[in-house]
Formats: sequence, C-alpha cells, structure tokens
Amino acid sequence: MAEVTRTQVRAEPAAGGPILKPDLPDPCLCVNFGATGDLSRRMLVPALYALWRQRALPPPFTVIGFSRSAESDGALRDALRSSTKQFAPAGSFDDKSWEEFEQRIFTSRGDVNDPASYRALQARMTQIERERGTQGNRLFYLAVPPSSFPGILRGVHQHRLLHPPGAGPWSRVVIEKPFGRDLKSARVLNRLAAETVGEKAVYRIDHFLGKETVQNLLVLRFANSLFEPVWNRKHLDHVQITVAEDIGIENRARFYDETGVLRDMVQNHLLQLLALVAMEPPVSFTGDDIRDGKVRCLRSLRPGPEMVCGQYRGYRGEEGVAPDSRTPTYAALRVMIDNWRWQGVPFYLRTGKRLARKTTEIVLQFQSIPFCLFGREDVCRRIEPNTLAIRIQPDEGISLRFAAKAPGEELEIGSVRMDFSYEEGFRRPMVSAYERLLLDCMRGDQSLFLRADAVEHSWEFMGPPLEAAEADPEGPKIYEPGSTGPREAALLLSKDGRRWTDLGK
Ligand code: BG6
Repeated sequence: MAEVTRTQVRAEPAAGGPILKPDLPDPCLCVNFGATGDLSRRMLVPALYALWRQRALPPPFTVIGFSRSAESDGALRDALRSSTKQFAPAGSFDDKSWEEFEQRIFTSRGDVNDPASYRALQARMTQIERERGTQGNRLFYLAVPPSSFPGILRGVHQHRLLHPPGAGPWSRVVIEKPFGRDLKSARVLNRLAAETVGEKAVYRIDHFLGKETVQNLLVLRFANSLFEPVWNRKHLDHVQITVAEDIGIENRARFYDETGVLRDMVQNHLLQLLALVAMEPPVSFTGDDIRDGKVRCLRSLRPGPEMVCGQYRGYRGEEGVAPDSRTPTYAALRVMIDNWRWQGVPFYLRTGKRLARKTTEIVLQFQSIPFCLFGREDVCRRIEPNTLAIRIQPDEGISLRFAAKAPGEELEIGSVRMDFSYEEGFRRPMVSAYERLLLDCMRGDQSLFLRADAVEHSWEFMGPPLEAAEADPEGPKIYEPGSTGPREAALLLSKDGRRWTDLGK
C-alpha cells in the first residue's frame, strides 16, 4: 500500500465582504466575579484585552473585578498585567495598549455571600457608570466555582443590580460550566436563574461553541450540497469525536477533583460537538432554531451508553488531589442516536488529560466498499474506508481520505488525503472562542450559548452513567501519562470490529 499523501486545497474566499458584518457592541460595565481566579487570568481578561487591542470594544467599556483578595485597583491591574502577558498568544501583548486597557479595570473587594459586599458593589458600579458613560448596561461574568453560582444569582437579584427586562439599559449574566452537578441540581439552578435573571438574560457558556472550526461544522454541513446526502446511516459506518489533552490538571486540583472528566468535558463540550454533527438541518440559522435542533438531537440519545473511565497514573499524587481519589481524568463512550438518520451508527466519544498529544477532531468514517472489483485479495483487503476528518484544533482544517492508484504498472492502491488548512487557506488570524463569545453577550446574541432545556437533556443522558461510574467498586482504569488512554477504551471499539483514530505523537 502506498503511503498516505497529502494534497493541499487552496481556499478561495468569494470576493466581497463578510455576510454578517458586526458593529461595535453597546458600551457596558462588566462585573467579573472571581477576578483573581484561574479562569479570569487565563481566559477572560486576555480575551477582553485582545478585543480592546483590536478596537472591538467601545471606548467606555469598563471592568470591575470582584474578589475577596483584590486589595486595590493598582494591585489587581498589576496581577492581571502579569497573567495576561503570560497567557496572551505570542506577540499579542504590548505595554502601551495594556496601559490604556488597565485604566478601565477597577476593584470591588468582597465576599459573594455577604450582603454588605453587594451594597458596596452597587455603590461602586453607580459611581463608575456615571464617570465612564457605560449607559447603564451591565454584564455580570461568574468566573467562580459552581458552588458560588446560587449565592451570586440571589445576591445580584436581591440587591437590585439587575435591570428589569424591557427597554432601557440591559443586564446579562454569563455562567460558566459545569452548570449543575446532575439533573436535579441543574434544574434547581435553572429555576433560580429564571426567577432571578430571566432566561433571556442568562448566557450559559460552553467555550467550544465559540471555536471557529466548531461553527464551521454547520457551514460545512449546510452550505455544501456534497455532504448532506451522505451524512446518515446509509453511508456512514461510525463517527469518532476526540478531545485529547496532553496537559494534566495544572493548578486546578480543587475544582477538578470534585468535577472529573464527565462533568468537566463530556456533559458539555463533547455532547455539544455531537449535537452539531448529528442534528437535523435547523429551520433557520437563528439562535433558537439552531438550539431547537440540538435539543432534538440530545433527546434522541439512547440512554445507557457503554462507557470506560480512566485516571492517569500519578493523578493521586498531584498537589490538592485526595490520595485515594477515584475521579476520572479520561472517558470513552459508545453513544447511539435513536432516530431515522442515525439508527445503527455508533458515535464513539473520548476525552482525557495527559494523553499522547493535544488534539480535538471529529472523524466520520464511511462504509467500506460493497464489493471489490480488483480481483486480488491482498489489494482488496487493504482498501481503507473513506474518512472525513474535521480538525477543531490544533492545525485547524478538514481532510478527506480516499483511495487512489499509485503510479506504476503494478495495481497498487494507496490512501490519499485532500487537506484544507484554515491557516494556509484563509491567511487570517483566528478569533479566540472567548473573544467571540464575549462580543456575542455584549450584542445580546444567545445562539452560541446553552439553553436551559439543552443543559437538562445533557444531564438526563449523562446522569445514570455518571452514577454508575461513581458506584463502580473497581474505580477508573489507570493509564500511563503520555499514552492513548486505558486499554479497555480500545476494546470498546475493537469488539465492534473498529479502532480509534491514531492518537500517537
Ligand atoms: C475547559 C475544561 O472547559 O476546557 C478544561 O475545564 C479543559 O479542563 C479545557 O482543559 C479545554 O479547552 P481548550 O479550548 O484548551 O481545548
């Protein structure tokens, strides 16, 4: 068999401007709960700074960092300068624009469970709004552990920090994941969010939905007539969704050991990717129609997926992790979708920490050819099925594998790949997921945020396997750091006569 070769495809974007050209969002005051936490330092503030640097935020834009440890405006600015410098992509930090940006950062010190802290915050907000001209628009960002969500929702409601819905300035609340720990707690939280904030002002963030390549999934499916006719049980053998990370839990032991991979990654990111791949064409491209389509797909998931959980060797020795922890850091699932399109097509999902390499990709494997014409068994046996691979990250792009005759007198059939790379094709910088999602919140576009019903259906599906995993007396299977995960995960596919795509370095 000839080597797999790669053929480049050049992207030629049609002439003309973008179809949707966004305007600057409304001016607003962003209140960042958990301002000195990991998420704010790594993601949120670098994204706001990047938007500021690109002139994508209106000049009055201002941030109040609310936290227990923020001592003064100056101290918070210094701390955020050094973390932004560390986490901003290479070459995208400069002192001059940071100095401009940090003039819009202020603090309000307090405790999320202390009424006096909300009164102090209210006073600070009113003063800053007057001075900065943010027109009363308020964006509350809850970058805090899930256990603090209810207290903050009640706090901002009871202290009247939220505007009533309707005309006039808006207020919106962004809630990070995981949204609840199970179906019951997610329902309670949804009810509380509806009573305090109102569904139209709740933005449940799943940053995977803001990734450029994830959004391209819908364009790939619905802006091409080539793929949709084969996107079903008649042509596909199975689908694999992989979100592999080479890093461990970094310095998030407290959060991670309570959360584990099923709540951190599967219930949200992986099920969202699955829903985008498997949903029926939406009625329109508007937020609620897309969200309706995804919910219908989540409702069709067959209960009781087969699942293998793993934990990397050495996890229990990480600082802050319980020495007898049974928290899984890896999961692989075999998911079936009970509808006409997907009956009989397994979706294999896997994700884990400390695996061989970082990669997020979706691979659709087509059925094998029904009959081999080439007469020679050795040739026929080696014809590989077609695959369509969508690389979400890194090396964002799409590749199609098909068979071709290798040049020469011998009949030799090789697999070739036609490859589209975002970077080479468009030669434009990719907008980070957090940047896009923050702008969407400021514009009031909920399309890429999770609706209450989607969260509940995801928990409904994940609840029983999660409980079973927690009750399993054997605990998660141990796998070696830098490997492809536990051996049992390979069995999940091999017993179906299939194998995972290569995760090796
Ligand atoms: C987060 C998880 O939501 O996603 C992390 O909490 C994970 O554990 C991260 O590392 C992965 O995101 P990305 O964008 O780096 O693939």
